Amino acid sequence: MKLFDVYPINAIEPVKALGSKIWDSQGTEYLDLYGGHAVISIGHSHPHYVQKISDQLAKLAFYSNSVEIPLQQELAAKLGALSGLDEYSLFLVNSGAEANENALKLASFHTGRTKIVAFTKAFHGRTSAAVAVTDNPAIKAPLNFAGHVEFVPFNDVEALKAAVDEETCAVIVEGIQGVGGIQVATEAFLKAIREACDASGAVMIHDSVQCGYGRSGEFFSFQHYGIRPDIISMAKGMGNGFPIGGILIAPKFQAKHGLLGTTFGGNHLACAAGIAVLDVMKEERLTENAAQVGAYLIHELKGFSGIREVRGRGLMIGIELDGPVGTIRKKLLEDDKIFTGVAGSNIIRLLPALSLEKAQAARFLECLQKYVS
Ligand SMILES: Cc1ncc(COP(=O)(O)O)c(C=O)c1O
Repeated sequence: MKLFDVYPINAIEPVKALGSKIWDSQGTEYLDLYGGHAVISIGHSHPHYVQKISDQLAKLAFYSNSVEIPLQQELAAKLGALSGLDEYSLFLVNSGAEANENALKLASFHTGRTKIVAFTKAFHGRTSAAVAVTDNPAIKAPLNFAGHVEFVPFNDVEALKAAVDEETCAVIVEGIQGVGGIQVATEAFLKAIREACDASGAVMIHDSVQCGYGRSGEFFSFQHYGIRPDIISMAKGMGNGFPIGGILIAPKFQAKHGLLGTTFGGNHLACAAGIAVLDVMKEERLTENAAQVGAYLIHELKGFSGIREVRGRGLMIGIELDGPVGTIRKKLLEDDKIFTGVAGSNIIRLLPALSLEKAQAARFLECLQKYVS
């Protein structure tokens, strides 16, 4: 059987990894500044993570949500403590799209409304409601074009105010747009969303799938501004590669048996992975490391004359050039053995592990300097 060919791939087969290093099947070592698309948070194959998952696998890998799973409570308690959002409730799923799907559904259950306000260049995933609020017609099937979504220019306070009304169910926003090219939501914009939602009774959904879990240098990027969304979606860094996602739900939402549900969400192995991630983030102060190493990278990159703009926060960084970045990324990969990400054609995207060392960041800067002066 052949694979359904939907991914353009690099001719590299990673077989082993540790921290921010990856080795391919030929034994070549690479520096990973892409983190498998912002997924690797605590670093590849962290010993505590390997131990926790292995121990759990040897005991019990899965049982359904029809029984007591204390690992879920442990995960929720540790997440509440580390994020400072202990009063929120946690619902566990398996991916970012699924998290947003449930966030939108819960908002609609809560308000009884259907109109959603989303933003230009937004990416929220590929499932039905998530892709409907994603601003990319190319990935929507005819079935996915929902008439109830209004797209408003990102970071445009006046347009946002004009769009949110008494019929609005929810406003969904990424704190830092990832796929959209590392565009940071301004404080004024997020505060305007919060106010518009309060005034109209709409739900503020913050998509933290990519920018959450320490990546921005705060646990959640909205915490740079002291804002509290009603629902926060998470995935990617949450499991360091083990599929797990979730939503944090403000106390005003009423739970009811059967309202939301999933077979695999919150399974034993996923919880073990999620707990290990939080343990390591706390123990190694990885959010602080992301803030420091990210600030160093951004500061240095801003000194490069050949770069049009450097955007981002913490270890979520976009480097926009005047032309396509394909050749430079190829050189970085093939000659310097450095993985990077991309957004659009002109933007190099850095999404490394939160444990990236300053010396590793410095090595990247040295290599990049050869291609952009
Ligand atoms: C902001 C954001 N939301 C949602 C998603 C979808 O996550 P997943 O691919 O896990 O469904 C992504 C994935 O890139 C994302 O960046």
